[in-house]
Amino acid sequence: MPDKPKMKQSFRSAEWFGREGKYGFIPRSWMRGQGFGPELFDGRPVIGICNTWSELNPCNRHLRELAEYVKRGVLLAGGYPLEFPVMSLGEPLMRPTTMMFRNLASMEVEETIRANPIDGVVLLAGCDKTTPALLMGAASCDIPSILVSGGPMLNGRFRGRELGSGTDVFHFDEEYRTGRLSKADYEEAEAAMSRSAGSCMTMGTASTMASLAEAMGIALPLNGAIPAVDARRRRLAEQAGHCIVSLVRGGVTISKILTRAALENAIVVNGAIGGSTNAVVHLLALAGRLGVPLTLDDWDRLGAGVPCLVDLKPSGRFLMEDFYYAGGLPALMKRIAPRLCLSAPTVEGATIGERLIGAECYNDEVIRPLEHPVAEQGGIVVLRGNLAPEGAVLKPSAASPRLMNHRGKALVFETVDDYRARIDDPDLPVEENSVLVLKSVGPVGYPGMPEVGNLVLPAKLVARGVTDMVRISDGRMSGTAYGTVVLHVSPESAVGGPLALVRTGDEIVLDVAGRRLDLLVGDDELSRRRAELKPAEPHFDRGYGAMFTGSVQQAHLGVDFEFLVGKSELKRSQESF
Ligand code: FES
Repeated sequence: MPDKPKMKQSFRSAEWFGREGKYGFIPRSWMRGQGFGPELFDGRPVIGICNTWSELNPCNRHLRELAEYVKRGVLLAGGYPLEFPVMSLGEPLMRPTTMMFRNLASMEVEETIRANPIDGVVLLAGCDKTTPALLMGAASCDIPSILVSGGPMLNGRFRGRELGSGTDVFHFDEEYRTGRLSKADYEEAEAAMSRSAGSCMTMGTASTMASLAEAMGIALPLNGAIPAVDARRRRLAEQAGHCIVSLVRGGVTISKILTRAALENAIVVNGAIGGSTNAVVHLLALAGRLGVPLTLDDWDRLGAGVPCLVDLKPSGRFLMEDFYYAGGLPALMKRIAPRLCLSAPTVEGATIGERLIGAECYNDEVIRPLEHPVAEQGGIVVLRGNLAPEGAVLKPSAASPRLMNHRGKALVFETVDDYRARIDDPDLPVEENSVLVLKSVGPVGYPGMPEVGNLVLPAKLVARGVTDMVRISDGRMSGTAYGTVVLHVSPESAVGGPLALVRTGDEIVLDVAGRRLDLLVGDDELSRRRAELKPAEPHFDRGYGAMFTGSVQQAHLGVDFEFLVGKSELKRSQESF
């Protein structure tokens, strides 16, 4: 019998480009006006390249160039690439905080994909929130997707000293404030820290999210660590172009890669890399979009006991360039393989376990052996108690062991402005054992939940050599920051969480081993204080800000909008003409 003629595979983009009459004429004609076609119209998969390039986002400034390598890969694999911009979220410039715009950017990604003839998407991200925003948007329309990160900057260098983004800013700032660093030196260090394209080269939020994307299999091996300016990142971008075409042809959507197992692997890996606390809110939000059940308790159960093996700032000594030369994430994952789900899938079609075959570590100082970890507890600890009924988080690898079980009197700052006005007051009633409490920096209180939780210590204590104190807030902290810092207290003070009831002089107990965070004030007194609470003034009376504060969920739910949780089918929509 003769072979049956093969049915040509049909893709979503054919609903635009493959039609007869005016419904095909109009999209084709206008695309021809850009010089595209006829290959764009012959039924091959159309690959969107979702680009967060922007001169307002220095970490992502090289992504247009990287997109060219993705395009080459797509074309070689028989697809047709079309690049499109989406809102870019640059940490160093955006106010009040990029986190306020993560959900907005994710909506733009989702709706741009949904509204256009796109069959699969390569997500080009870098600076912190760009990665979760793009993954969340792609997850909500469940399209075949690959993430390509911009990669970390080269290591900073200043007078023979290696500088880590963010982490060393905090050190320099303390030295400058206390007169140990001159203004001229401070300015010189500024130029020496960020000396190439790329994202922060510490294990901050950008490197954490790029590494976790790799761990989840939604990015290619070594996506997290190859430096932004290394030619091998271009090669990785080209490979991603190849892979996305295969994913589209195979009907492998993002939810088939980002399974519960993938998310669990990410939590374990986050512990082993000493990853950012910001990963908690981003993964919870991503899981919500995918419909995968994931809670704060999973973070504690799966990640808290994982040893931190990667000796990178802010928890350790080295930087992302060193991590790459040491073997990067595959070498690290091989060391913790028994804790991982090795059968989890990846975008290139292998399993996570297959990825690790042949992975080697070339520097045991940077990627430590299991018997010689940077910290026994690398993951995120989840605390609960009458001060945080829905939970709070702490990163033990960045904290001081002596403060992990601490009882001290609260020194309360009602707002960030209050904190800034008083922290360096020589008469501030503070001592080394005080617990610094900052209110009104949660998702609603300081819209977007800014990275102010790692409060700089009072100048008079720094001058006396104090390097760490217990700090508690409903805000976040930069992934490049460190200290015994309790974050993401939920529910937040601005919506009436118990943090709102704390007063200066109250005793607070932090018990990391017991996973407790308690305010030692009787229930009657707390009820009396609650009755005196005044509702917070709204920050916005219109626009996106009002939508944000009206719809944002609390930290333990990932700070996503209620109405964005979940995903919906990428079905054909109504015609526009
Ligand atoms: Fe962009 Fe750190 S500021 S990655």
